[in-house]
Amino acid sequence: MKRDMVLNVNGEEHDVEIEPNRLLLDALREDVGLTGTKEGCSIGVCGACSVIVDGRLVSACLTLAAACEGKQIETIEGLAQDGELHPLQRAFVQFGGFQCGICTPGQIMAAKALLDHNPNPTTDEVKEWMSANLCRCTGYYKILESVMAVVEGKVDEGRRDEAVRQARIQSLYQSDTYKSDTSE
Ligand code: FES
Ligand code: FES
Repeated sequence: MKRDMVLNVNGEEHDVEIEPNRLLLDALREDVGLTGTKEGCSIGVCGACSVIVDGRLVSACLTLAAACEGKQIETIEGLAQDGELHPLQRAFVQFGGFQCGICTPGQIMAAKALLDHNPNPTTDEVKEWMSANLCRCTGYYKILESVMAVVEGKVDEGRRDEAVRQARIQSLYQSDTYKSDTSE
């Protein structure tokens, strides 16, 4: 049986009338009307539906909306402020961190959750953290390069010298995590 509840999403309260077993993913997309959070695998494997609840990264496809009542839910729609994209969003644009974009909201929310807790992760820490977010288009180096651009304060520097960029990609490639199982 449906019941009324209030979901706080990106600082705004939304009154919804939903079943107790309604998934957060469906509540966000269909009841709140925020379709930025994407559905990929539906079983907690791909990371496309990643959102942040009370500071913790969660898979919205495995989380009950009712369990989020009274909590602060952050989605991709809440990142831009006053018409300006979040640095992670700008980095993904500037460094080619996405193509089709299905995985991108989850990638960015995962990266945000990491940087909120640790603003200066190493490359390998970023790789490890982001390994739960799958992308079938871009290849992981540009995603990694995008996140590291934020960590290193390289966003908005303009197009980097291509030789420098290639050297950077090579150095990312040399570190361990993605060596054996990814390609650009
Ligand atoms: S759709 Fe939730 S983890 Fe894939
Ligand atoms: S940009 Fe297409 S799946 Fe990641």
